[in-house]
Amino acid sequence: MSLWNRHKIFEKNSIVLIVGILLVIAIGGLVEITPLFYLKSTIEVVDGVRPYTPLELAGRNIYVREGCYLCHSQMIRPLRDEVERYGHYSLAAESMYDHPFQWGSKRTGPDLARVGGKYSDDWHVTHLIDPRAIVPQSVMPGYPALARTELDTSDIAAHLRTNRAVGVPYSDAQIANAAADLKAQVDPDNSGVEAFQKRYPKALVRNFDGRGGNPTELDALIAYLQMLGTLVDFKLYNEKANLR
Ligand code: HEC
Repeated sequence: MSLWNRHKIFEKNSIVLIVGILLVIAIGGLVEITPLFYLKSTIEVVDGVRPYTPLELAGRNIYVREGCYLCHSQMIRPLRDEVERYGHYSLAAESMYDHPFQWGSKRTGPDLARVGGKYSDDWHVTHLIDPRAIVPQSVMPGYPALARTELDTSDIAAHLRTNRAVGVPYSDAQIANAAADLKAQVDPDNSGVEAFQKRYPKALVRNFDGRGGNPTELDALIAYLQMLGTLVDFKLYNEKANLR
């Protein structure tokens, strides 16, 4: 039987063809994907990247709950137009503690990967409550309820523990103090601020929504937005990686 005749089996029988295709794709996939699980360098270690503080994590949960990712990406591609508009392209390490990641797939609004520090807290308060107060043509919905809703802190330790189960290196102390750390981050006068900042170096401590009383969902969301893209010092990173 010539080779051509053997190939007929595939061409005349669709089931055999499908099995053959799957086999070939599976081999190709394994060859590409398996090494990634064993390479140390799959995610380059970058100084400054740390797990989210409890308040930031709560804000991130609200970001996911409200579907912000449907209109906003968090992934700056290494293309000139993106880097000039949004800043240094995203590093894998910057989303290594994201479960699930928020790269997104659509930009109705701008990329938010480096929005931290771009605007004041006041700007975010006004913009999140009523985007059209700042950008008259904006199609972004307002989220006035966030300012009125007290943040539910009862399950924050469980959220940290769940993240640890999928690989985020939260310490026992970080989990035990999650609720206290959350309250300390929105209140510079809180006696726990120092301990909090030891556990989360360089984390911002302030009253994000500018309102008194217990932390609101708006506090958490703004704390999250204000830290996005701020963990890596790119001056140091570029020197180290010798990218200049
Ligand atoms: C329907 C799509 C849509 C949704 C959903 C949406 N946004 Fe937006 N967003 C926009 C658009 C469009 C803009 C640009 C105009 C403006 O600033 O309002 C924007 C702008 C922004 C900006 C300013 C970015 C910059 O660099 O100027 C921030 C911050 C932001 N959105 C956060 C959020 C958050 C947080 C949520 C979820 C609570 C959210 N957005 C939900 C469409 C959306």
